[in-house]
Amino acid sequence: MRLIVADDEAGMSRTAADLFCEAVAAKPSSSVLVATGNTPMGMYAEIAARQAVGQCDCGQLRAIQLDEYLGIPAGDRRSLYGWMRRSFIDPLGIPDAQVMRLAGDAADPDAACAAFTTAIRAAGGIDISVLGLGPNGHLGFNEPPSAADAPTRVITLTEASIESNAVYWGSRDDVPRRAMTVGMDVLLAARLTIVVVSGERKREILQRMMSGPVSPDVPASLLQTADNVVVVADRAAAGELASTSAAGVRR
Ligand code: F6R
Repeated sequence: MRLIVADDEAGMSRTAADLFCEAVAAKPSSSVLVATGNTPMGMYAEIAARQAVGQCDCGQLRAIQLDEYLGIPAGDRRSLYGWMRRSFIDPLGIPDAQVMRLAGDAADPDAACAAFTTAIRAAGGIDISVLGLGPNGHLGFNEPPSAADAPTRVITLTEASIESNAVYWGSRDDVPRRAMTVGMDVLLAARLTIVVVSGERKREILQRMMSGPVSPDVPASLLQTADNVVVVADRAAAGELASTSAAGVRR
């Protein structure tokens, strides 16, 4: 796992966009797992700005949703699908035929998760995984504890996630209690993983992800066992941690 420390959040977004656009240049039809949350928003805006001046061509990408609340229709602004559309799919002009939506409103959510697993396999797996880091160490909605072989599935949100998502829903009572997430098994098999981490409130969990014990109790720590993971953090999140060398990371 490589760490790149940027001076500030804008620098984090630019560096993450550099890594992303290099990977897209190498394989324009990459399958991309797309996190929402606040942290990657600057990165996505940066990629769109580069595409507008011909520096990064995302038109052939396949965009794959990472997670979704249960029972929320696609058209609901608070759905993670809606957020992914507004921040990634629409600004980058990715055609609908190249978008894989995780249907949180499916009549049979377990069957929808199984079908999503099959569809990701059929697409050849994940080329580029863009992830944020949950304050409790979650990746997507792989809440603690999540083992390395945890599949794409329906989960119950932890109290910590209900608390941190309350801001998007108005109050904690309004936050859906259940969600779907692409599983740890898929995340750990991605060919390139870019994790963006910003702000002092992520400092302790970033340390645990990078160098704490590898444990289902901190799902992000399982990335220590994966190939080709680049963590891009701003100084506020990294604290005393310094950038590490590129050894072992293919770009
Ligand atoms: C969102 C997601 C979450 C977030 C995480 C960090 O699709 O999968 O795991 O990445 O909760 O969220 P922010 O970036 O808002 O701190």
